[in-house]
Amino acid sequence: MPIPSFQRFHLPPASNSSLLVTGGAGYIGTHTLLELIRAGYQPVVLDDFSNGSHLALKRVESLAGHTLQVVEGSITDTGLLDAMFSSAAEHGSPIQAVVHFAGLKSVGESVAKPLDYYQTNVAGTLTLLQAMERAHVHTIVFSSSATVYGIPLAQPYTESHPIAPVNPYGSTKAIVEQILRDWCAAHPAHRATCLRYFNPIGAHPSGMLGEAPEGIPNNLFPFITQVAVGKRPHLNVFGNDYPTVDGTGVRDYIHVVDLAIGHVKALEHSRRATTGFVAINLGTGRGTSVLELLHAFQTVSGQAIPYEFQPRRPGDIAECWADPSTAEALLGWKATRTLEDMCADGWRWQSQNPNGYEP
Ligand code: UFG
Repeated sequence: MPIPSFQRFHLPPASNSSLLVTGGAGYIGTHTLLELIRAGYQPVVLDDFSNGSHLALKRVESLAGHTLQVVEGSITDTGLLDAMFSSAAEHGSPIQAVVHFAGLKSVGESVAKPLDYYQTNVAGTLTLLQAMERAHVHTIVFSSSATVYGIPLAQPYTESHPIAPVNPYGSTKAIVEQILRDWCAAHPAHRATCLRYFNPIGAHPSGMLGEAPEGIPNNLFPFITQVAVGKRPHLNVFGNDYPTVDGTGVRDYIHVVDLAIGHVKALEHSRRATTGFVAINLGTGRGTSVLELLHAFQTVSGQAIPYEFQPRRPGDIAECWADPSTAEALLGWKATRTLEDMCADGWRWQSQNPNGYEP
């Protein structure tokens, strides 16, 4: 795939395009910032850098040819939020909408530290919404997750599947969705789009942005790329006795750039929407097993990935994939990047940045 140029975008007047992007320095946030700038928005980033990188934002700036406004701080800081909304308005670029990524995101950690998860993800979002109300900002795009569905009753997951999360992380996403549903019901101008991500993987095709987990990766794809680059000796494949195509777990992997574009489409939808709350799956509609992903990665990268079968990982389901038809109908969005694109771009990122954003 050709590397897109981000140098030639003409930005529309700031007065109608200013956005607050919370958690903009993280994996999905940085990729989304690029797409937002490309679409003509002027994002202001709020991030506490607990899981994001200053260098990643510098790279966004260099890819975009655009200087970002970045504020270091937390969504739980009422005074800071008020100051950011007021300052944007005073400078003639009032914030029009919020794209809300900030939050804790590890399933396992959420089981061990549930209060941290409720504090940051739920209380933090409440604080943000209250500040938005004071600033008369009516639109939010929220980073939700397919994990809100819990144990699948049927595949693919449609948005009408019951919400029954099985861990505190998933519960925080489901609770925030409910808060947003109620917030939209309370005022006809409120617009909330909850994007239920499936499994984002891959990286920006430039090789300059990608996923940089701290420590040992929990998720499959960054683990594979770290084995490929020699940082881990082998991959543990959790379970080979699932009732799936080859016994290994099946997921709906989606290229992070496709996911990022989904946020731009969601903002456009918010402007057109006549109803307030909507939850939308962002996935490809295709399931891929652990071994299928592994083989695709080996073929694309030319790297051998040694692996060992291990018992099933507690809490994992056998398979899940999205029904992405709501996204196509409402947003005009469809994932276009293939599994091979995900592997090629993820490998380019990892091989060019073996230590992520660290030197
Ligand atoms: N897996 C391995 N070895 C590993 C890591 C994972 O075999 O080292 C397997 C898992 O057992 C599973 C598949 O690879 O079958 C995918 O696992 P991930 O950890 O990459 O992703 P999950 O589907 O478990 O979870 C992800 C996100 C969650 C999110 C969920 C939404 O990590 O935050 O997708 O569906 F909630």
